[in-house]
Amino acid sequence: MRLSDEPIISREAIESRVAELAHNFASAHDGEPVVMVVVLKGAAMFACDLMRHLPLPVTVEYVHASSYTGTQSSGEVNLEALPPAVHVRGRHVLLVEDILDTGQTVSRLMAELDQLSPARITLCTLLDKPSRRVTNVSADYVGFVIPDRFVVGYGLDYEEQYRHLPAVYALEQE
Ligand code: IMP
Ligand code: MG
Repeated sequence: MRLSDEPIISREAIESRVAELAHNFASAHDGEPVVMVVVLKGAAMFACDLMRHLPLPVTVEYVHASSYTGTQSSGEVNLEALPPAVHVRGRHVLLVEDILDTGQTVSRLMAELDQLSPARITLCTLLDKPSRRVTNVSADYVGFVIPDRFVVGYGLDYEEQYRHLPAVYALEQE
């Protein structure tokens, strides 16, 4: 596997889109406080950039989810460290994901978060691969819709590599 020579989404495009997403979210929500629930590890970089642009009272919780081995979703979602119920109950949750692929991770997570009785859950994902969806989940805020290619960078990994890259690249067969 090798990285595409050029990013498929540049650092500049990500920066301006993230600011725009934060602006769109904030203007739709009237200064109301939010609890960001960030899905680790992939959404960490996106969430940190997004929160810096939110002119609202924000608290942050992290949940660890994994389902991928190599470039294939195993279909089986592992969740760890859901936020304590007290941090979510009656609050507006902004769930932040790196990529919506089959949708299984987010469906599981939304069901679990729902048990903690939030006032509302809004889903924001940096990337969306709608062609791969097997569940009926859709995001309220999407950074970029991408075709069915395996991508890395800006938080996303292939076997834990490439998360640190500031742009999004496609991973191609040698
Ligand atoms: P889903 O449960 O199939 O929607 O998968 C979502 C998770 O799989 C994401 O949170 C990512 O961690 C991972 N994933 C899906 N597609 C890609 C990709 O193209 N590159 C890297 N990780 C991916
Ligand atoms: Mg992920």
